[in-house]
Amino acid sequence: MRKPILISGIQPTGNLHLGNYLGALKNFVELQNSGKYDCYFFIADYHSLTIDFNSSEKSSEILAVASAYLASGIDPKKSTIFVQSQVPESTELAWIFNALTPLGEVERMTQYKEKREQKLGTDVGLLTYPLLMAADVLLYDAKFVPVGKDQLQHLELAREIARRFNNRFGKTFIEPQALLTKTPRVMSLNDPAKKMSKSLPEGCLFLSDSEKDIENKIKRAVTDSGSEVKYDAQNKAGVSNLLLIYEALSGAPISRLEKKYSGKGYGQFKTDLVKLVTDSLKPFREQKTSSIKLKSMLNAGAKKAEKLASKKIKVVKKKLGLLD
Ligand code: AMP
Ligand code: TRP
Repeated sequence: MRKPILISGIQPTGNLHLGNYLGALKNFVELQNSGKYDCYFFIADYHSLTIDFNSSEKSSEILAVASAYLASGIDPKKSTIFVQSQVPESTELAWIFNALTPLGEVERMTQYKEKREQKLGTDVGLLTYPLLMAADVLLYDAKFVPVGKDQLQHLELAREIARRFNNRFGKTFIEPQALLTKTPRVMSLNDPAKKMSKSLPEGCLFLSDSEKDIENKIKRAVTDSGSEVKYDAQNKAGVSNLLLIYEALSGAPISRLEKKYSGKGYGQFKTDLVKLVTDSLKPFREQKTSSIKLKSMLNAGAKKAEKLASKKIKVVKKKLGLLD
């Protein structure tokens, strides 16, 4: 029997960091290696145009995500890796969804409202972005979509779009299910009240950071008053965040880590964490696949994705009464 299709994407918007690894990439690899799914992982370059960007950096940002996919363990022999804009059917389908979705449904998206408030963009794409995301998923008949919490509302909208289309034009799309990542939010090292993000570079461990950078950032990470290595998200947010990172990278449960460092203070804990992070991120520092090889891998992935996409868009156009 054919395995169910699983799809997810990451936007190429600059340097990837430990939050992206623990919140997305690491989970993608585990799902791939479970052998239960036919996995598609793409680079959402069209989505990334809705955020201020520099055209001279875009292609290297796209290749950097491809390279991070490989370094994290996504294997092009097991999964299909491709670039969104190289399979134009998703934008065709997005247009169709634009024409069939009530304005109110996109206007109430939390991310849209937040980005508008923060003046992160004023272009139409900011509003219609979830329709392209719905197209990315529905085009491939994906059953599962691993995402972070922030994307759940967009996925719910994709389900609604599928349902409405099926009701009006006959069964066409599968309603996709979200697979939430296990890892909670990774917080900034120097401000554990905020999410680790590239906009706070001092508290952000980039996947490309040198060993020295990793050491400096972890040594300077805020810990809390007292000296006990103990999980207490309310009163010891800094240490708790470091414990979560330690647990996610080592697989050792926090309770065991607390015992291990009991009475030892923060010093030894941080030294060990530096080593763990340095070792875990080694594949990212050492990933040196040439641009030519990355591009040829992406072209092969796009060809494979295109096979599904071109069949599906034909079916959709026919249901709508368009000529093929
Ligand atoms: P973004 O940087 O928002 O494009 O995120 C790409 C992916 O990484 C999404 O699946 C996010 O949920 C995840 N991600 C980003 N930052 C973090 C973080 N600090 N902790 C956990 N996951 C994150
Ligand atoms: N919107 C997602 C993000 O910002 C990226 C994305 C685009 C995506 N299309 C998708 C994720 C389809 C999952 C499925 O993280």
